[in-house]
Amino acid sequence: MLFDILTIFPGFFSSPLQDGLLSKAIQKDLIQVRPINLRDFTHDRHNTVDDRPYGGGEGMVMKPEPIYEALETLRTEPPAPYVVLLSPRGRLFHQEMAHEWAGLERLLIVCGRYEGIDERVARFVDTEVSIGDYVLFGGEAAALVILEAVARLIPGVLGCETSSQRDSFSDGLLESPCYTRPPDFLGQRVPEVLLSGDHARIARWRREQSLLVTLQRRPDLLKSIELSETDREFLEMLGWSCDT
Ligand code: ADE
Repeated sequence: MLFDILTIFPGFFSSPLQDGLLSKAIQKDLIQVRPINLRDFTHDRHNTVDDRPYGGGEGMVMKPEPIYEALETLRTEPPAPYVVLLSPRGRLFHQEMAHEWAGLERLLIVCGRYEGIDERVARFVDTEVSIGDYVLFGGEAAALVILEAVARLIPGVLGCETSSQRDSFSDGLLESPCYTRPPDFLGQRVPEVLLSGDHARIARWRREQSLLVTLQRRPDLLKSIELSETDREFLEMLGWSCDT
């Protein structure tokens, strides 16, 4: 899968692309990542990508022309990209989007900077996305988040495919706690069930722990997932009610 990242800071991506599983995925040719300098699509002496806001106000706004020209140029290369504009005003990015996008051949991520992007750019992108309800300096860190979330779902990128199936959110719940050696750490013992070798009991315990931690930390998630009768009984025992 090809990831194009349109940015005024292509150097931002150097280190993340050279380390860890992203670099391995690139070496194995499972993904290609191209940071593309937006300033290459300007025509003035100063390579200007921003201007003052109409109507007054603080900060600068990203001009539409360089982004438009970059998108038009990049779209001439096949395969056609799915174009994502990053901004805190976008729809909230989530795991389901990551799964959908992992099936694409090409994702083109446009990083915003300054106080905002000229609204007329919106017509030339497929979607506008935010990674959370907070404001970053720009879209670069958000682009990395999306790159990682999507890349790890591409077959072959993680050594073990089942590990992404066990992730938090993959079934709509947070992940159950995990442990490794030693069995006793400063008086905290690994739950006995995990040492039992009884796979059915372990699976049941993990499911219950997932339900418990989700109820404690993200009860909102319980509203949007399918719960079995056993799940409901367990949650009701913990004081949960489906109409809360
Ligand atoms: N740019 C600035 N803040 C952002 C956010 N929360 N998500 C995506 N892009 C951004």
